[in-house]
Amino acid sequence: MKIIGINGSPRAKGNTRLALDTMGEVFAQEGVEFDILHIGHKLSPCSGCFRCAKTHTCTLPDDGLNAMYDQLIQADGIILASPVYFASVTSGMRCFLDRIGCIDMNNGRKLRMKVGVPVAVARRAGAVNAVDELFHYLNYAQMLIPGSLYWPLAFGQAPGEVAQDAEGIQTLQVLAQEMVYVMKVLDAGKAQVPLPPLPRKVYTNFVR
Ligand SMILES: Cc1cc2nc3c(=O)[nH]c(=O)nc-3n(C[C@H](O)[C@H](O)[C@H](O)COP(=O)(O)O)c2cc1C
Repeated sequence: MKIIGINGSPRAKGNTRLALDTMGEVFAQEGVEFDILHIGHKLSPCSGCFRCAKTHTCTLPDDGLNAMYDQLIQADGIILASPVYFASVTSGMRCFLDRIGCIDMNNGRKLRMKVGVPVAVARRAGAVNAVDELFHYLNYAQMLIPGSLYWPLAFGQAPGEVAQDAEGIQTLQVLAQEMVYVMKVLDAGKAQVPLPPLPRKVYTNFVR
């Protein structure tokens, strides 16, 4: 089994990375493979061209997004982790979600029924809002979303400060444990219970 953690911070080794590493320690104990993808701050925004409806890949100039999507398809679990920027996720995470979301909904929804969790890291305010934003994406992609003893967030500003947030660290550790549990249950049941087929999606645009 494999989990991919998306680090949505421009700072590769900041608090978001620390939050992911905290979960990674649990995955290591459980024998679950874990990779972190640092998306940085160089992803282009979605252009809204909808060419991915035909090509099933993003046709913007290659900035690594399609390779990241391929890695997500191979994973059993996905963590979307972002620092809070102005009470929201980072613009890098936003670009990532818009483009991955568009490809996936046009590509047979390959992320469906994977185990996905949101994680937000903040200095003081906006973390629940950022968690909600990440949740909306995971839910749209039809992933299964376990919880923890608290909402999945931790507090810190300077790199490393999240380590001082004992409740946040415990929340992340329990979240990691819950993820592994759901992944194991899914893995055990997959052979016996086939995925229900998906109908062709009905689109009703509120235009009259
Ligand atoms: C542009 C910018 C906006 C920020 N906005 C918020 C905010 O609205 N609320 C908050 O609590 N922290 C805010 N922060 C602080 C970061 O969320 C915090 O330092 C976090 O630990 C950074 O994570 P990182 O080390 O992984 O980059 C902001 C930081 C930056 C650079």
